This record gives sequence, structure tokens and C-alpha cells, in this order.
Amino acid sequence: MALREIVVEGDDVLNKKCRIVEKFDKRLSVLIDDMIDTLIESGGVGLAAPQVGILRRVVVIQVDPEEAPLELVNPEIIETSGEQKGLEGCLSIPGKWGIATRPYYVKVKAFDRDGNEYTAEGTGLLARAFCHELDHLDGVLYNTVCDRMLTPPEIEKYNEGEIDFADECYVDTGDVELDDKGDEE
Ligand code: NI
Repeated sequence: MALREIVVEGDDVLNKKCRIVEKFDKRLSVLIDDMIDTLIESGGVGLAAPQVGILRRVVVIQVDPEEAPLELVNPEIIETSGEQKGLEGCLSIPGKWGIATRPYYVKVKAFDRDGNEYTAEGTGLLARAFCHELDHLDGVLYNTVCDRMLTPPEIEKYNEGEIDFADECYVDTGDVELDDKGDEE
């Protein structure tokens, strides 16, 4: 296990489409372990393989530090519902924030490191992370799909805790039944 360097905006690797993982081997396992270490060290919510310079369809997500990180190989979104508009950031675009509209509920199918297929679902922040991280696998950065980026004075106020953009953000749970479909943000 080791930390990997996080690639930042401006590097072409972030704009490329990643290849499907075909071999579920030791190399993949090492990559996933390194990505989890790197994610935890960075304090972020999700990390996609191109962010460590690897053009493979691999994502790790950890919304709750108390829970084991999710590892998603060749993930695909198979269901969405509702809508949420809220703040979003990216480890590859440090120091910036945007306001992005995403589905409120997202279900994905993916493989684990051993090649077993499974599904995962989430609302709120986890749903947002699924969308954001899977976009990375197609070379899409959130600043190209968000409603707007915060201005430098807004970032300063946000970092000081003086503004939360609540008037601009919303959650529409759509037809999601919260009791069945995971945790609120
Ligand atoms: Ni990102």
C-alpha cells in the first residue's frame, strides 16, 4: 500500500476516456489499495483512477469514514431518481468549488477487485459522488458540467463559514422512498 500523487487540472490524463478493466489481478488490487490510501490521506469523498494517472475504469468512494470504502471496477449507472443542487469540489481542482445539479438517488452496478458483480445505491452525497467519479472515467471534470463555479470572494466566505448557498441549493427526492434507499446526507 502506498500513496499516489493526485493529478491536477491541466494534465491531459484527466480529459481522457478510461479503458475497461479486463484483468482482475494483483496489479488491480494494488491500485485499489493505493487509491483508498490516497483518498483517506486527502480527506476527499471519492477518487477515480485517472486522478492518479491510470486510465482504467476504477473508482473508490468513502462518504462515511466509519464505513469501509466502496471499490467500483467498470461501474455503470443503472438507475437515477430525483434531483439535488449543491456544492461540489474535486481533489484534482484544489481550492475551488462549484454548484452542480445531480440526481438525488443513484444506483450503480460494478465489479469488486475479485471480479464479482454487485450493485450499490445511495442518496445525497453518495449519489453525487457516484456521478462525479464516474464522469472522471469518461474524462469529464465537474467544472464542465456544474451550474456555476464559486467566485474567489464566495470561496473565501465559504471557507470562513460565512455563507452556505442554502438559498441556491435544493433537494427533490423524487419518488425515492427514504426508508429503503439509504441514508440522508
Ligand atoms: Ni473529482
